[in-house]
Amino acid sequence: MTVARPLVAGNWKMNGLAISLDEARAVAAAIDAQPPACRVAICPPSTLVHRMADALGGGGVEIGGQDCRAETNGAFTGDISAEMLADAGAGLVILGHSERRAGYGESDALVAAKVEAAMRAGVEPIVCVGETLAEREAGDTLAVVTGQVKASLPSALQGKAFAVAYEPVWAIGTGLTPTLEQIEAVHVAIRETLIAQFGEEGRNPPILYGGSVKPSNAAEILKAREVGGALVGGASLKAADFLGIIMAA
Ligand code: 13P
Repeated sequence: MTVARPLVAGNWKMNGLAISLDEARAVAAAIDAQPPACRVAICPPSTLVHRMADALGGGGVEIGGQDCRAETNGAFTGDISAEMLADAGAGLVILGHSERRAGYGESDALVAAKVEAAMRAGVEPIVCVGETLAEREAGDTLAVVTGQVKASLPSALQGKAFAVAYEPVWAIGTGLTPTLEQIEAVHVAIRETLIAQFGEEGRNPPILYGGSVKPSNAAEILKAREVGGALVGGASLKAADFLGIIMAA
């Protein structure tokens, strides 16, 4: 059994217009010239998924969505299904990001239903978990995070490719990062939970770290125990910064 390659994924969040495809093209050109050790993905807003897939088609950069609805289609104004993402050229989808858990009240059960939808559409999920500052200060980090892992990952994932992203809510967009010891403690706990849930196959999925990753801290974070890549927000918007992280993997 082989452990999956590390994955460095950029989450553009609600940023990016057609002009931003130039940044994605620059990333694609650089990794074509110098193939990195990791898989590379960009998750643009859904308006750009198809255009980015067209612009980069077949290159080394994989394209992902940032969310999907659990249903295949229907009267859900403004929403997008996993099938639609796949149809537009996405091979991955971020699910359960804290900005959706907090902003839209997404529960673990809903995230699990979305993961099942992604499986149905053949789209690889990146499932996000992470504690708030209050939860960390209360000493609840490991219980919160492992609870989210157990309840957000359905058994349908058995034997399938997926990734987990540990993103402490308090580290997202703040410039703050946990210590390496704190990152390792959580990643090891997530790995143990995955093994308890999926048996030996639980050793395979990469566990990404996310939260204020930048070129200057990427190398040490990516070397930490059980860190299998990064989910990058702000620093993924500029090709030079994102490449600095990719080449550190
Ligand atoms: P930042 O890298 O901007 O802190 O965002 C992290 C994140 O939320 C990625 O999903």
